[in-house]
Amino acid sequence: MTTHPIGIFDSGIGGLTVLKEIRRQIPGENLIYFGDEARFPYGIKSAGTVRRFSGEVAEYLMRQGIKMLVVACNTATAAALNSLREDLPIPVIGVLMPGAYAAARATKTGRVGVIGTEGTISSGVYSKLIKNIRPGTEISALPCPLFVPLVEEGRLSGEIASLVAKEYLAPLKGRKIDTLVLGCTHYPLLKPVIGSVMGPSVTLIDSADETAREVKRVLTKNGLLNPGGEKKSRSLPTGFIRYCVTDAPERFKTIGERFLGYDIPEVEKAEL
Ligand code: DGL
Repeated sequence: MTTHPIGIFDSGIGGLTVLKEIRRQIPGENLIYFGDEARFPYGIKSAGTVRRFSGEVAEYLMRQGIKMLVVACNTATAAALNSLREDLPIPVIGVLMPGAYAAARATKTGRVGVIGTEGTISSGVYSKLIKNIRPGTEISALPCPLFVPLVEEGRLSGEIASLVAKEYLAPLKGRKIDTLVLGCTHYPLLKPVIGSVMGPSVTLIDSADETAREVKRVLTKNGLLNPGGEKKSRSLPTGFIRYCVTDAPERFKTIGERFLGYDIPEVEKAEL
């Protein structure tokens, strides 16, 4: 079982930010990345629909023999993490809890902002988790739907990105937050522009790094860590990566390489 792959799933390309971090922290693990491009985006769909889609993707990945499922999508984590945990016989990790812990640790004033898709923000899950970990925290949560297409179009800086960020983030500026959770897989790519609008006194929380740490911790606890998976200095990754999408593999390859900063040799078209 230790050499079986980890399944990493997102509505599209955004979860590659999580894959990249897992690859960096445990480079010997074999990975299967699944992007549900045919049904992207999840962020504007109802929780029931996102749950159904997530269940279908999980079934597909189980058929590929995965030893762990990482739901590398904030919207899918908010809607489907509990049901996936009930249904699957393997460990299931989401991206919300690691981000919530990081935010609770980072805030000094107890005033935290959360931005994400409409689905994630309306679920209220981030607020609930952060308040459970750090009672009394004041949360200001906002959906920022235009950030996703901006990233998909590669508009990570410049006038348009900066105007959209200023417009969206203006309400948070007045709330005196000291920590902002980037509660969507795409937003870490907009860190420079979000950071320049919010200013240096606001810590930006990117859950990819925390999630990868959690993946390693849970694999270790369950005796599932691939023996080749420990990072040795200067060593190159030894695990394989398979990329599967439900539509438009060429587009995934082009934008995915921008997310990862390295080549994606092949993208498979998956039938659910
Ligand atoms: N991956 C989604 C998330 O993290 C963003 C893209 C979408 O709306 O599907 O919420």
